[in-house]
Amino acid sequence: MDILKINGLSVSYGNKKVLKDLSMNIIENKITAIIGPSGCGKSTLLTTLNLMIEENGGNFTGKILFKDKDMSSYKKDEIRRSIGMVFQKPTPFPFSIYKNLTYAPKYYGTKDKVKLNSIVEDTLKKVGLFDEINDEMNMGANKLSGGQQQRLCIARALTVEPEILLLDEPCSALDVKNTANIEDMLLKFSKEYTIVIVTHNLSQAKRISDYTAFILDGEIIEYGETEEIFTNPKDNRTKEYIEGIYG
Ligand SMILES: Nc1ncnc2c1ncn2[C@@H]1O[C@H](COP(=O)(O)OP(=O)(O)O)[C@@H](O)[C@H]1O
Ligand SMILES: [Mg+2]
Repeated sequence: MDILKINGLSVSYGNKKVLKDLSMNIIENKITAIIGPSGCGKSTLLTTLNLMIEENGGNFTGKILFKDKDMSSYKKDEIRRSIGMVFQKPTPFPFSIYKNLTYAPKYYGTKDKVKLNSIVEDTLKKVGLFDEINDEMNMGANKLSGGQQQRLCIARALTVEPEILLLDEPCSALDVKNTANIEDMLLKFSKEYTIVIVTHNLSQAKRISDYTAFILDGEIIEYGETEEIFTNPKDNRTKEYIEGIYG
């Protein structure tokens, strides 16, 4: 099923048009990679998909359907709960680990301590942090290592049971080991979540994604099965990009 249907999406910051008439569907419970050179509009696309673009100074035209219903017919809160976002640089809140993970559930109305504790435990287990930090729940989250912080941020996004996870170059600040860790985790997640990941790392896209979209200068040049895009690109610009000629 197509959980997101993007139709004729254009996004501008002031009069600078950054995404141009972009159409693509995102398939449920699959990993979709967004690739393309720096500045082509990848982050703009992700921020539009969870309706943060206006807060970022942009605006969009076109239609985005989430589960066949126009995005604009949902409350923004509902969208942000269902469509979580993780950024390039780990961004834990300047609170304890525990509070990082209970913040959103509390905001959305969960008050029961036992329930909150189980959310904390479940999400830490999902990102493989539970055994590492179980005794340090009240420690400041910013004391964790970079890789742990990024896993905490992913756990935080999971605390409100999203359906889609948007990840904007989540491994670009991490070393090989932490990157492998997160890739393994994402592969397991795709049973439960739909994942859209922006990545600069083409071998990462190849390793983990089912579908890949190549964006150049705000336009989708090619979108299809990852295997096909990387072994048999239809467009010469895709071929040049994956061969490392530009970007
Ligand atoms: N908040 C903003 N205000 C104005 N221009 C922006 C803003 N965010 C991004 N841009 C511009 O939009 C273009 C696409 O940026 P971005 O979506 O960040 O690309 P990518 O993630 O592919 O590197 C760039 O030219 C960038 O300078
Ligand atoms: Mg970006």
